[in-house]
This record gives sequence, C-alpha cells and structure tokens, in this order.
Amino acid sequence: MPAASAWRYSPSTAVTERPASPTRLPAWQALQTHARRLDGGAIGTLFAQDATRADRYALRHDGLYADFSKQLIDDAVHAALLELAEQTGLAGGIESLFAGEPLNFTEDRPALHMALRGGAAVPTADAAALAEGETRMRAFVRALRDGTLRGAHGDPIRDVVNLGIGGSDLGPRLVCEALAPHGDATPRVHFVANIDPAELDEVLARCAAGSTLFILSSKSFTTLETLANARAARDWLHAGLGPHADVGAHFAAVSNRVHEAGEFGIAPERVFPVPEWVGGRFSLWSAIGLPVRIALGEDGFDALLAGARSIDEHFRHAPAADNLPVMLALAGIWNTNFLGIGDHAVLPYAHGLRSFPAWLQQLEMESNGKRCLWNGGTAEAHTAPVVFGHAGTVSQHAVHQLFYQGTRRVAIDFIVPVSTQDARARAMYQNALAQAEALMTGLDLATAHATLRARGLDEAGAARLAPHLVCPGNQPSTTLLLPGLTPRTLGQLLALYEHKTFVQGWIWGINSFDQYGVELGKALARQLAGSPGEADRHPSTAALLAAIARMTR
Ligand code: F6P
Repeated sequence: MPAASAWRYSPSTAVTERPASPTRLPAWQALQTHARRLDGGAIGTLFAQDATRADRYALRHDGLYADFSKQLIDDAVHAALLELAEQTGLAGGIESLFAGEPLNFTEDRPALHMALRGGAAVPTADAAALAEGETRMRAFVRALRDGTLRGAHGDPIRDVVNLGIGGSDLGPRLVCEALAPHGDATPRVHFVANIDPAELDEVLARCAAGSTLFILSSKSFTTLETLANARAARDWLHAGLGPHADVGAHFAAVSNRVHEAGEFGIAPERVFPVPEWVGGRFSLWSAIGLPVRIALGEDGFDALLAGARSIDEHFRHAPAADNLPVMLALAGIWNTNFLGIGDHAVLPYAHGLRSFPAWLQQLEMESNGKRCLWNGGTAEAHTAPVVFGHAGTVSQHAVHQLFYQGTRRVAIDFIVPVSTQDARARAMYQNALAQAEALMTGLDLATAHATLRARGLDEAGAARLAPHLVCPGNQPSTTLLLPGLTPRTLGQLLALYEHKTFVQGWIWGINSFDQYGVELGKALARQLAGSPGEADRHPSTAALLAAIARMTR
C-alpha cells in the first residue's frame, strides 16, 4: 500500500499520451484479421514456405539465443505486432521507464529497479541513502561470511534463514537455488515464506539457535506471514538461548520501516532499506537480495547485476524487431489476444531453475493480472495469461500429456541453459528440443494408423487405436538458450522477463507496478483475525468457521 501522501492519481504524460485501450488501434484490428487468416493454419506450413525461417526468427544478444520460429507468426503478423508496439508509443514508454517518470501512476512513483544494477540513474534525492545502505550491507555480508559476525553467545553464524514472502522470497530463493554450485556452504541459507508453522519448523530442525541468523525481509514491515514467522523465530531463539539473551544479535531486517524494525528488536544498523521506487516482485536487485549476497559473495551478486544490466542496455537501445524482451512480449500478446491462448507454460530445462516458474508467476500475474486501464476504463481484451510450469524433463512425465492431446492450446517457453557436454545434460537439451518440435508437428491420424500397422497391429485394431494416438500439434513455443547457468546468465534471464512484463502491461494499457487487488483478501483476513467468531460473517465463511471449530475442539 502506498503511504497516505501517495494517495493521488497523477499519471505522467508518458502514460496519458498512450492510447487507453489497444483494441481501438488499427494495428490491433489488423492483427485480428491476420488471426482469422491464419485460423486453423499450422506452424509447420510456415517452415515449408520459408527455408530460412529458423534463422530469420531467431534473435541473439550477448550469448543468448531466442528461437521464435515455432510461433504461429508469419512476416505479416510480425510486422503488425511491431506496428502495434509503435502505435502504443512503446519506444517512448521505455524511455520514460528508464528516465524515472512515475509510470507507477496509481502509487505516484517511478519503477526504477534497473537503477539498482546500473541500468538507469538513481534519483539524486535517494543516492546518498542508497550508497550508505549498500556500504553497510557489504560490510555485514563480509563479516557474516568470514565468521567475525557472531551470535549472542559468541558462536559464528552457520545458518541464515530468510523470512519473507512474495517478492521478498521468490527472487532470492530462486537465485540461491540456481546458483548453489557457485556459492559456498558457509553459512547455509534457508527460506521460509509460509505462515504454516510446518515450514519454519522444518528449517529450524536443521539449525542451532546460537549460530542462526534471521533476515526479516519485508519492505512494508506489515506482511502478516513474515511478521508471524519472525515472532516465532524470536521465541525459538529465546527458548534456545535463554530469556535474557540478546536475540537482536540474531536478526537483520530488509525493510523501509526502521522504526518498526527497532520496536521488534533489530538495531538500525542492521536494517537495510529498499527504495520506494522498487516494487516487491522487482526487488531482488535491492537489499532483498541479501541472502544471495550471503550465499554467493559480492562477486557473484555483482555478476548477477551485470547480466541484468546487459539486458537493460539491450532493451533500451535495440530496435523493436531485434529486441528480446519486446519480441517475447509481442509473441505473448499474439497468443493471448489473437489466438485465444490463455495458458502460458514456462519450462526451464535445468534443475537449478525449478523455482523459476513460481518467480515468473508472481512477476507476470501480479503485475499484469489487471483489468483497469490507466484512464479508469475496463480492459476490452485479456491481460496476463495464467502462467505455470515445472522443470523439464520432470514436466514431461506430469503435465505434457495435456499439451499433446488436451482440448486447450498452451503457449510454451522452453528455457535451456547449455553448459556441459555431460551425457545426461545433453539428453536434457535433446529432450527440450524434441518436445518443442513434437508439440508443434503433432501426429496425424494417418501416421498414427501407419505406425500401428508397422508395429504389427491388424487393420481393425489399428483403426480403433489410432485416434487415441493423434496429437493435433501446433502448440506455439519459444526456445531460449542460455550459455550456461551462471550469475551473469541468470541476471540476463530475470531482467529479460521483467522487461517483457513491462512491455505487455504498457501495450495493454495497465499499470504493471501496483497490486491493489491482493489487499482485498488481506483486509478480510485481518477482520477474521480481529474477530474470529461466526457472527455477521458471510454464510459460507461462517459455516467453514463452524466446521473448523468442530475439528479443533
Ligand atoms: O501481497 C503482495 C505483496 O505486497 C507483494 O507484492 C510483495 O512482494 C509481498 O506482498 C511481500 O511484501 P513485503 O515485502 O512488504 O512483506
């Protein structure tokens, strides 16, 4: 929630000069015509018509290779999508984003996460405070890693537990998992997000109170789950170290609320701020990345920032047709709004990226899961798709069946870090490529029938079984190859999707940087916590409360 002073609505001209709804634009209507023209068409046909398609629909930047050729996009659609970007004033929007205009107009702030990685200028008014926090944080991380920072009873810190949720959890958790081979084991870093006591209990069972440090990671310092876990952690420390122990020695906070952190018992020099112009889901690059710094050291974190900065520069300067985030966004808009594909699967072929889908879910669904246009009107076209995913190849044995033979179409991003020629790693890349191709080409009835006959089935048996083998194919996908999974390539990957998300929000005419929707459920939960009885409740909630009361009697 913004501070009371931010309760005004003052969109900058960059916002008000863009069309309110993209659906009224000539390019939108042209795309609708193209969608009708291509209706029922096969991606495979586009390859048959153009031997150079694979090359022409590939984009390259700083070691990355993105293959868009398996999208149902021909040259006319490609041109119309670029025209749509043009008609929405995207180039000006990108410039305004980097210039720090208040594009988060409903909270009267810029969205300047790029400034934390050198991709944009830090607002002058905040530069000194940011630099001071950075210096303190670096010293803190050094002391933690070299063992000079000790607990209340003089033990070196061996375990660090990040207590945070949403953007204060998903980004650092993903990076620590993905880059575990690049870090060292001391101290070990753990993550706890859920208010379900089971998660904290599970982590604490592996830690000793004397050598554990908690990071209370909450930009707002109001998040129910994080504060409840922090109180439970404090109780656990007291239980382990004695009622009078200085448990403040076992805490640091990442938050803007120094006063509230102080009331909790965390000294101001242990509170690392997050600038107001950095939204939760874009905050990994800020002090929210503290667990990453602890796990990787400053060099690793700096390499992550450098990778992201490389994408910032590319996004800001590359022409739209060569611009990776722009093309990712346009392919998504084509699938969502013109081909009617409401589901977007993201399949990282890397165990280290197993939490990437969860990170991306928050990024895209919390940013662009909205219907209110900047001028207060209602979106006339779909905004964010449902994003989901799993690590490949595990996903192949769980959810790909629906992609092959289900009744709905799914747009897929295959993300493949290529790092080693180990036989199993090679099998993983081969599987990613095979899936992308098979989901595009499918299997028709005649081929299914012929295959069964070749396997020795008689004519009647083949005729009966063949329909069950048919895969319609034509599932559009983008394949993104990364040169390995390193701090730099991971920084590139995350910044790529951040900017993709901005581009889509811009074109849809919504504010990607607020999240007022989630407040509704939070307010009701607060009411329930304040008065947990059944009186005056919605009848279904009252019935469920009564059932819970019976179960807990
Ligand atoms: O409830 C949504 C949200 O505000 C996210 O946007 C944010 O990442 C998360 O909660 C955590 O917020 P905080 O860091 O303030 O605890």
